[in-house]
Amino acid sequence: MAANGTLIGEQGYDRAEEVKQFDDSKLGVKGLVDSGLSSIPRIFIHPPEILQQFQPTTRPNAQPIPTIDLSDLHSDRRCSIVDQVSGACRNFGFFQITNHGIPSVVLDRTIAAVKAFHEQPTEVKARFYRREMGLGVSYFSNIDLYTSKAASWRDTLQMRLSPVPAAADDVPEVCRDEIAAWNRQIQRLGEELLGLMSEGLGLPAEKLKEMTCLEGRAMVGNYYPPCPQPDLTVGLTSHSDPGVLTVLLQDHIGGLQVKHDDAWLDVKPVSGALVINVGDLLQIISNEEYKSVDHRVMANPQHEARVAIAVFLNPSNREGVFGPLPELVSSEKPALYREFKFTEFIMRFFKKELNGKSLVNYYKL
Ligand code: OGA
Ligand code: NI
Repeated sequence: MAANGTLIGEQGYDRAEEVKQFDDSKLGVKGLVDSGLSSIPRIFIHPPEILQQFQPTTRPNAQPIPTIDLSDLHSDRRCSIVDQVSGACRNFGFFQITNHGIPSVVLDRTIAAVKAFHEQPTEVKARFYRREMGLGVSYFSNIDLYTSKAASWRDTLQMRLSPVPAAADDVPEVCRDEIAAWNRQIQRLGEELLGLMSEGLGLPAEKLKEMTCLEGRAMVGNYYPPCPQPDLTVGLTSHSDPGVLTVLLQDHIGGLQVKHDDAWLDVKPVSGALVINVGDLLQIISNEEYKSVDHRVMANPQHEARVAIAVFLNPSNREGVFGPLPELVSSEKPALYREFKFTEFIMRFFKKELNGKSLVNYYKL
């Protein structure tokens, strides 16, 4: 106990109080950087064991995650594309796609709009600063600020896209039209991807869509400001995504890494490409044919901020029961997970800190 009666934690200071002060300030990490600091506040300093894992371990000749060309998707190339997608989902859980049909001006506009949101004056952004998702729009720093051991060098604009999108009036004006346009693009592309992923499991193309996996969409617009001490913190701690699949649009800065065979591979920005990854729910539905893998983002050491926009595809049928599909269960390969309701599953995700693989393990038989 300190003299004033507050609890001093193992860090040797009242961390909870400093975390709350940062949250109440509504400054976000961007606001801290704008105030001109040259060292990072101690609530952002990660323990040495975590920082050590962030040291480069990428093998010099490690194979990169696959890049798949989606052109002529509905021609006789489809079989080969399905094979590539299926192989990438089984071996890496991550891949990039090119020639996906979204024009590069749309990619650039979407990035620019989310960047513009984060670069507005603090007073403007503060109106959106909240942790509740009731309105379908929120801006905050660190989704797990109150449950993690250390904060990360990142701010986020979060938005519900479907089945009930945030009301247009509640969406920040600087990015309103661009995000609406992005949502339409992802709806179309998401349907194609779910088709390829279903076929890659030997199922009819419509299977995942019929399970409503396209309809529960949410977006996060992550902003990684330049970090004055990138060796002491991280941009995003290691985690896997809970849903079915994630479509990520990243700018040219880089810093995203994916775990593969116990090493971390860089997901190098490819101009015009999108990054796709399998989520925990698809790993479970596919009875582990497809892998949901850990990924993380380094604290941004550059002078320019990094922007990355993720759209998460989840089932809209939240009361529905999910588990390994009977088609993928046999006496040779029994179900690896028990069944559960999606509502319960996603609640469990939001209650825990991001770090760690505990979600799928909880449902393992
Ligand atoms: C995420 C994620 C990666 C990035 O939001 O789940 O993994 O580069 N984002 O921001
Ligand atoms: Ni993620």
